[in-house]
Amino acid sequence: MSELYPVPPDFAADARIDKAQYEERYAASVRDPEAFWADVAKRLDWITPPTRIKDVSYARDDVHIRWYEDGVLNVAANCLDRHLTERGDKTAIIFEGDEPDDARHITYRELHSEVCRFANALRHLGVEKGDRVALYMPMVPEAAVAMLACARIGAIHSVVFGGFSPDSLAGRIADSACKVVITADEGVRGGKKIPLKANVDAALERDGTRSVETVVVVQRTGAGVHMQSPRDRWYHSLVEGQSEDCPPEPMNAEDPLFILYTSGSTGKPKGVLHTTGGYLVYSSYTHECVFDLKEDDVYWCSADVGWITGHSYVVYGPLANGATTVMFEGVPSYPDASRFWNVIDKHKVTLFYTAPTAIRALMREGDEPVTRTSRRSLRVLGTVGEPINPEAWEWYHRVVGDERCPIVDTWWQTETGGILITPLPGATDLKPGSATKPFFGIQPAVVDTEGKPLEGACDGNLVITDSWPGQMRTIYGDHQRFVDTYFSTYPGNYFTGDGVRRDEDGYYWITGRVDDVINVSGHRIGTAEVESALVAHAKVAEAAVVGCPHDIKGQGIYAYVTLVSGIEPDDALRDELVRWVREQIGPIAKPDFLQWANALPKTRSGKIMRRILRKIAENQPEALGDTSTLADPSVVDTLVHERLSQ
Ligand code: WTA
Repeated sequence: MSELYPVPPDFAADARIDKAQYEERYAASVRDPEAFWADVAKRLDWITPPTRIKDVSYARDDVHIRWYEDGVLNVAANCLDRHLTERGDKTAIIFEGDEPDDARHITYRELHSEVCRFANALRHLGVEKGDRVALYMPMVPEAAVAMLACARIGAIHSVVFGGFSPDSLAGRIADSACKVVITADEGVRGGKKIPLKANVDAALERDGTRSVETVVVVQRTGAGVHMQSPRDRWYHSLVEGQSEDCPPEPMNAEDPLFILYTSGSTGKPKGVLHTTGGYLVYSSYTHECVFDLKEDDVYWCSADVGWITGHSYVVYGPLANGATTVMFEGVPSYPDASRFWNVIDKHKVTLFYTAPTAIRALMREGDEPVTRTSRRSLRVLGTVGEPINPEAWEWYHRVVGDERCPIVDTWWQTETGGILITPLPGATDLKPGSATKPFFGIQPAVVDTEGKPLEGACDGNLVITDSWPGQMRTIYGDHQRFVDTYFSTYPGNYFTGDGVRRDEDGYYWITGRVDDVINVSGHRIGTAEVESALVAHAKVAEAAVVGCPHDIKGQGIYAYVTLVSGIEPDDALRDELVRWVREQIGPIAKPDFLQWANALPKTRSGKIMRRILRKIAENQPEALGDTSTLADPSVVDTLVHERLSQ
């Protein structure tokens, strides 16, 4: 039995949703989803309110997902204009720069005017409704401005995390044929500079990127960068003299809002497509309920806008709710291990949302960097991105939250647009390590490998049996891949790719990916991407990549490499290959371990047995299981021997 942390009674007394309300509302949401979601949609300002609420089919030969399909609205107007009368002078964004003396408050009125001016600038550059715009930005307010400006004129943004390499950026620009790229001269994180503009220049030399007509450059560090005329334009000169009046484009609820690329188990990254109405209803509603949002809260989600968490819970959810949202440019360890807690004290943060990997890294620094700060303002703590181990959960609860603050362990995915399984802080008794219960309208099920639904306490694969408004609609340009990836494994259900255990109280415990996706520090990396980067090196004949346990990152990247015959392995080559992957994909994909393999374990038909490689990487040779189907079982002995002697 795991320990139960009941809802603190004084928290429940003031909460938006208590236990009885959760039960009642959840029952209503699954009894009549249309009525439920029609009602929730009223939280937004619609130009034309929707009358057709839900049209969904998960049938393999006809997968379609539509919500509010006759509704018309604009996302930027919902995040800005409608707040101006009541909240014009309220802070929308608190920017906390990389250096602790660099902070700025931006009111809703100021943000509205900046977004309008930049939206007009984009229109002047010829950007029209439906055009794709890539963002390759540091965590500065202009990133949010650019997203909202795209939304205002109906352009589809595609944010690419600033840690990705020029090649990765080029692939994403090419896949969706972006017309404009918005970037900065440089980014700064933890005192280190990131050459964003130079990376864009390199990316635009790659094949397939000729769709790009303009590069807009935000001046962040003032570093000298090469501006290529007439392609490259400074952000500040573009917005200068633009009008603050920019009528928002009326968008159909099912018009695309953004594309966000994420790794899958095979092939190149998928362009996850989210649309306008359902996404904003879902991201704003979950944000309000899961964090028990109140008017005076100061909310901080430490995610980068390059990930879905940054989209839904730094920008769109909070701003649609008229909240104050903190944008942090830096890292938890700079200038020292108290940075998070100092920022919380400085801005009186009440709701704080971060990743388990950050918690584990800070926990290693001991309690003192935390306890020397106050943190009295905090009310709710949250985590996202990967399973949180109970030790880290308890430390977060005891040391960071002084045992006062409920922790919301939120499970969701790029594909889901918003949080699906989570505690509600005023309603759910907590168990460390469990994402607990489904959010309103979410119907999870656990199935075995044959797809048979399991009852009661069980262990299996997590599927969702019916849609919710924030669900992705398709993979950009490849609907068949969407169907194959998510709706063919367990027909009639959305397959999450995650394993799960449900306990006797109906609590869900996510056990991690069951496909070939590795979750490194909460970031998804496809093993196939790392493998193709490795085999692109002239000295590599073959590579297999699996995940392995890692104290801080949750999972690390473990690569087995077979060299071209005649090439001798040595440490210099190992370093070179690690650097090579870093350059090809980005620092987040850098292998943590690289083991030379004379040969890889394969079936007689030539398929690499990853299950075995995973066990070797996990250092569990006793759990290898049946190796008799291998073409050459002795390969395994060698790999185990070399792993053990490392
Ligand atoms: C994992 C991030 C356990 C999971 C929002 C999922 C989690 C993948 C949790 C999605 C959690 C996310 N507990 N595992 N609370 N949250 N995951 O697309 O494996 O970057 O499938 O979205 O992260 O990662 P993504």
